[in-house]
Amino acid sequence: MNALVIYFSATGNTREVALMIAEQAGADIYEIKLQKPLPESEFGVYVKGISMMLKKKNPALKEDFPPLSAYDIVFIGTPVWGSKMAPPLKAFLEACPLGKQKIALFACYKASGYEGCFKDMREALKDQEIVGELALTDHLAYDSDCRANSVKAWLEKIDGE
Ligand SMILES: Cc1cc2nc3c(=O)[nH]c(=O)nc-3n(C[C@H](O)[C@H](O)[C@H](O)COP(=O)(O)O)c2cc1C
Repeated sequence: MNALVIYFSATGNTREVALMIAEQAGADIYEIKLQKPLPESEFGVYVKGISMMLKKKNPALKEDFPPLSAYDIVFIGTPVWGSKMAPPLKAFLEACPLGKQKIALFACYKASGYEGCFKDMREALKDQEIVGELALTDHLAYDSDCRANSVKAWLEKIDGE
């Protein structure tokens, strides 16, 4: 199966998980990038992120979109922002509609809100077949092996279904 991992990451957690999925699933990888990069500091990311969430307009993305029709399964990842997907992923899904691929969702979060995030993602992908969801808390960032094992178990489950 041709697999692609699409992700947005502001402070690196979702990127780390995306790279693990790509490595373990032998998938290509695509990072959603903003035209105007986010601030370097975590505080700056929060300020900018909150302002992005309050705006009605989607943030502008770099538009080097991947050839989605080439893939059978697409893994889509985001940090949880305000119990939803981060606006750059929302902007990507609106700009670059998916076809008939199977979809698996993953999200990184600090404390809570991943259920709302997956609900938000499922609504945006309502015509797609969702074959799995994986939420990873930031606490696991301190233990990469634990993260990698969670990813491994998740991929095996998706593969077996
Ligand atoms: C603007 C903003 C809003 C956030 N909202 C939530 C939230 O609702 N729930 C939560 O548990 N974490 C929240 N976080 C924390 C991130 O989801 C978490 O740190 C995640 O791992 C960051 O992923 P990244 O490093 O790939 O950007 C928020 C972070 C930012 C910047």
